Amino acid sequence: MAKRSVTKSDGRIAIIGCGNIGTAIARGLVSAGVYDPGQLILTRRQVEPLGELAQAGFTVQADNRDAVRQSDIVMLAVQPQQMVEVLSEIVPDIRQDHVIFSIVSGVSIAEVIQCLGQAVPVIRVMPNTAIEIGESITCLAALPEHGQALDMALALFGSVGNTMIITEELMVPATALGACGVAFFLRCIRAASQGGIEIGFHPHEALLIAAQTARGAASLVLEQGEHPEAAIDVVTTPRGATIAGLNNMEHEGLSSALIKGIVTSAGKVAGLFAREN
Ligand SMILES: NC(=O)c1ccc[n+]([C@@H]2O[C@H](COP(=O)([O-])OP(=O)(O)OC[C@H]3O[C@@H](n4cnc5c(N)ncnc54)[C@H](OP(=O)(O)O)[C@@H]3O)[C@@H](O)[C@H]2O)c1
Repeated sequence: MAKRSVTKSDGRIAIIGCGNIGTAIARGLVSAGVYDPGQLILTRRQVEPLGELAQAGFTVQADNRDAVRQSDIVMLAVQPQQMVEVLSEIVPDIRQDHVIFSIVSGVSIAEVIQCLGQAVPVIRVMPNTAIEIGESITCLAALPEHGQALDMALALFGSVGNTMIITEELMVPATALGACGVAFFLRCIRAASQGGIEIGFHPHEALLIAAQTARGAASLVLEQGEHPEAAIDVVTTPRGATIAGLNNMEHEGLSSALIKGIVTSAGKVAGLFAREN
C-alpha cells in the first residue's frame, strides 16, 4: 500500500457525471490542496444539485463535450448503464494526450477503449466516499503500456488516501470490499451505537463512543500493523466480558454475515454492466 503524497497540480480535470462519488472526489482533491476549485469541471445533466460547488468556485456545467475539451484528465463517474451513452458523446473530443480515469464499476478498460475507438490511456479507479476527507483506499488497475498514466493516478489519488495497484480482474472485489465497504462499516458503527443506547447512553454519546472506537481499532491495524486477531487477544481476558460478547456475536453470525454480504455485493457488481447492456 502506497503512502500519501501531495503535489500541487496545474492541469484541469473534467468529472463527467458528478454525483455522489464525483462530488466526494472533487471536494477531496481541493481539501488536499492538490487542485483549486477552478481547475475542476463538474458535469451532470441536472446541474442544480451542484449549486453549492459552483458557489465554491468549481466549474459546473451540463456540457460534457466542452468539459472534456478543456481538460487534461477525464474522470468518468456515471452509473454503469450510462457509460456507453456518455462515451459515445465525448468520443469526438478525446485527444491522444488525454488520460481517462474510470471510476465506473463493472466496465472494463477494454470496453472503454473499444467505445472510444482509440488507444488513449484508461486507468480503472475504485475509491470510496471517504476520499472527501482524504481517507479513501483507492484501488487502481491499468494496462502495462499505460504506466505513465498509472503514475499520474497514483499521485492524484495518493493525495486523498491510500492507494493500491491491483490487477483488473480484482476491480469487482475491490468495489465490494472498498467502495461498498464504507456502508458495511458504517452499519457496524450504527449497530454498536444502538447497543450502547440500550445499555445507558444517549444516542449522540453512543455514536461518538462507537465511531471513535471503530477508528481506534482501524488505526491499530493500519498504523501499528497489528493483525486483528492479535489485537483482539489483548482485549479478551479469560472468562471476561469481551470474549463473552464477541462469542455471542459470532454465534449470531457476525463474521459470516460480513463475509456473505461482501461476496453478495461482489456478485451484484459483476452483473451490473453485463445486465444493463
Ligand atoms: N458512490 C460510491 O461510493 C462509489 C464508489 C466507487 C465507485 N462508484 C461508481 O461511481 C459511479 C457513480 O456512482 P455514484 O454513486 O456517484 O452515482 P450517482 O450519484 O448516481 O452519480 C452519477 C451521476 O451521473 C450523472 N449523469 C448521468 N448521466 C449523465 C450524462 N449523460 N452526462 C453527465 N452526467 C450524467 C447523474 O446526474 P444527472 O442525472 O443530473 O445527469 C449523476 O449525478 C458508479 O459507476 C459507481 O459504481 C461509486
